[in-house]
Amino acid sequence: MQWQGTPHRFGALAKLFHWTSAAAFIGAYLVVYYVIWCMDDEQPESLVVLNVHWMLGILVGALVLPRLLWKLLDVQPDSPPGSLLEHRLAHLAHWGLYALLIVMPLTGYIGTSMATDYGLFSVPSFRDTSLFHWIAATFDLTWEAFEAPVDVVHHVVGKWVAWVVVLLHVAAALFHHLVRKDTVLVRMWPGQSDR
Ligand code: HEM
Ligand code: HEM
Repeated sequence: MQWQGTPHRFGALAKLFHWTSAAAFIGAYLVVYYVIWCMDDEQPESLVVLNVHWMLGILVGALVLPRLLWKLLDVQPDSPPGSLLEHRLAHLAHWGLYALLIVMPLTGYIGTSMATDYGLFSVPSFRDTSLFHWIAATFDLTWEAFEAPVDVVHHVVGKWVAWVVVLLHVAAALFHHLVRKDTVLVRMWPGQSDR
């Protein structure tokens, strides 16, 4: 297994980052809509399941900076054959996905007033951190005033934007694989060697 990328494929570490974040991101969606659509939010069980949404979301957020750092240090595969416009759109889509990988966990975390419990440890809520106390004192803000616009971003982007961008991304990967029959999907697929 090669940790680093080559001009022909992503390395094992880039694949690990991609697939762990993708699974946690999609998992966060499935869990939160299970709570919204299938559970009674008055019941304490819904909080336990919502905690899984927070756990997955924080995992996505924790991975994004090391992932971007590794992207800077690693060899990137060459762009597949295609027009300049296609390459520009692909770059735009990838940076849009990175933006979502930052915005969704960040707005979720800083807009939630409860700690996230991982069982062995817990992540304190943003409301209890000294950073929030400093923001509140400096800008004379209550928690409610701070949280409201952050929640709007989390809910609007989550409900209307993020899943559309991810669906287009998955459709593009399948288009390359099934229609173009190039190596775009294969070179990100776990366990593939150089070809
Ligand atoms: C990968 C990161 C995340 C994604 C993709 C995501 C996505 C979503 C979506 C789609 C919703 C429902 C929006 C709606 O239909 O109104 C939601 C709600 C919510 N999210 Fe996240 N989220 C993420 C991370 C987080 C994190 C890290 C936290 C807190 C630690 C969090 C806390 C919440 C809360 C409290 C709700 C409201 C749930 C409810 O209405 O019952 N999210 N999120
Ligand atoms: C089943 C779902 C998914 C499939 C099949 C898939 C497939 C791929 C493929 C084939 C690439 C490489 C594209 C290239 O070489 O130009 C890629 C890159 C990428 N994917 Fe996904 N993906 C999926 C889910 C996701 C999700 C949920 C996210 C984040 C929300 C995501 C974020 C990214 C990012 C940011 C890149 C760019 C990596 C880089 O070059 O730095 N993917 N994906």
